[in-house]
Amino acid sequence: MCGIVGFSGHSDAIHPIIEGLSRLEYRGYDSAGISYQVEGELKILKKEGKLENLKKLIEEIEPSSCIGIGHTRWATHGKVNDLNAHPHANDEFSIVHNGIIENANELREHLKKENFEFKSETDSECFLNLLTLEYKKCSEVKQAILNTFKQVKGNSAFVIIHKSSHLIYAIKKSAPLVCGINENSHEVYVSSDPYALVGFTTQIFFPKDNILCVGDHTNKTHGISFYDIEGAPSKNYTVQEKQMDLNIVSKGRFDHFMHKEIYEQPSLIRHLYDKITEKENLEALYNFRGSDINFIHIIGCGTAYHAGLLIKNFLEKNNRMRVNCEFASEFRYRNPLLKRTEAGLFISQSGETADTLACQELCKDFGLKTVSIVNVEGSTLFRECDANFLIHAGVEIGVASTKAFTQQVLVGYILTCALSEKIDLEEIKQEITSLAQGVEDILSREEEIMAIAREIYQKKGFIFTGRGEQFPIALEGALKLKEIAYVHAEGYASGELKHGPIALFDENMVNIAIVTPDLYDKTISNAQEVKARKGVMVLLGEKDNKELEEISDYYFGIDFAATDQLKPLLSNVFMQLLSYHIAKLKGTDIDKPRNLAKSVTVE
Ligand code: F6R
Repeated sequence: MCGIVGFSGHSDAIHPIIEGLSRLEYRGYDSAGISYQVEGELKILKKEGKLENLKKLIEEIEPSSCIGIGHTRWATHGKVNDLNAHPHANDEFSIVHNGIIENANELREHLKKENFEFKSETDSECFLNLLTLEYKKCSEVKQAILNTFKQVKGNSAFVIIHKSSHLIYAIKKSAPLVCGINENSHEVYVSSDPYALVGFTTQIFFPKDNILCVGDHTNKTHGISFYDIEGAPSKNYTVQEKQMDLNIVSKGRFDHFMHKEIYEQPSLIRHLYDKITEKENLEALYNFRGSDINFIHIIGCGTAYHAGLLIKNFLEKNNRMRVNCEFASEFRYRNPLLKRTEAGLFISQSGETADTLACQELCKDFGLKTVSIVNVEGSTLFRECDANFLIHAGVEIGVASTKAFTQQVLVGYILTCALSEKIDLEEIKQEITSLAQGVEDILSREEEIMAIAREIYQKKGFIFTGRGEQFPIALEGALKLKEIAYVHAEGYASGELKHGPIALFDENMVNIAIVTPDLYDKTISNAQEVKARKGVMVLLGEKDNKELEEISDYYFGIDFAATDQLKPLLSNVFMQLLSYHIAKLKGTDIDKPRNLAKSVTVE
């Protein structure tokens, strides 16, 4: 969940490291730090809080070096403070770590007996001390790193520099790590995400697990060498074929990445159909149709789980399949009944969410086919599943997921339609075009949504409601609002209000109710019940509906007609913009909300 950047070259290391870290802050922002080498000594600067704090320190100290490593932290072991911030260093080595060392307590006891003192509460410092111990034994950095790495348990990536070497070392197991070179300026880089290196590198490499990468900027033919865990040269890595576009690292005309990403949706929606119906994808689907699979477990966390709820509806409706959709953190611990004639469908933007990965492993152990709907190609989930359907959302920087949700749902929809023998895919293509237009229409009415936000943002609480296909959007709308605006928000099935939550309503409580033509009469009665209790009513429903306009305090009409099963995605764009504007009025840090991180690699 943390972000790592390392650099070694002939010129300044500090700028590319800080720039890389600023792009990786979405991975964690509890603290940030850098370590660099000056005349055979390792220096360290680290600060609790966002990268801004570290930047101020750097401005004061003006460090200068040609080799260094940096880190943004999302705390797992140990409090959020300067001491626990990375890098961790001693007289010999500096290290940064992303992941968890599962046998940290055991290693710590062993190292204490060897007279090592611990300055921090982190598991990462065990790696540093163990490495120092191994180095004392063999006096060889590469061998010491391999010996150390073999002894740590769990999923982690480490980047290491030594006080008197220009080499940079990186190794990982089931954690993201890339390295890159700039063939023109002869610089070497490492990072937890290729996104951090856009514009700096000319070639990017993805090492496999347990492969040690050694970056040497003085080696003009092989800036980076790869070794297996026994130290023998290895070719166990892949090379990134396409360079990422520099535009992706900028917010463009928007104040926040979240806002930019909301606006990317129409174009992403338009391009998805052709990608999903590529021959290879359809073949994987048709194999599935011919198989004896009779039950699907859909698993995800947070927003990805909400996408799963919608996909469950599609599978039931279009394919008459039996489906269970569950939070990964629940599924994995409740000893579920799993059979070989079932399949696991895992939904994830990052492909690195620890609970989702654990469920995939569980299903695999029981002999189930595992399939992902995922954004990050090459992520752990992508590598582990039998089949993968990419959502082609591009990099999502805003911590609150927006475009990834839309693409996840849409991929699920296209797949279920392609699986059904009764659905004409050409009609689906048309529906997707209408969806893109519908989203554009809502975006063009952003002022109206801003005006609603202005009226309600100071209210005490927000209950989002919907029925049937709109119920997952009520959940998603509430999640989005609470995570970026820090207000209390809950998603409820409309029919459930009278079983408890209606007690909350007074003139300070807002009901954001989705009332679409399905079960219209029932849903409108629920809205009236709230109105009778003086609740503030924001109604989202079919356009030009006089009744909705009259009942509501604020009404937003949408033309749902051309979208059939994709109506929830239209309502959701309204929810995205509403949350965004409420958060903006409240002045929160929208792209990096407190206490959160983009990919949750802890359990
Ligand atoms: C909410 C949000 C989270 C993620 C969840 C799963 O806006 O982003 O709820 O959806 O942490 O993450 P992925 O999709 O990466 O598995």
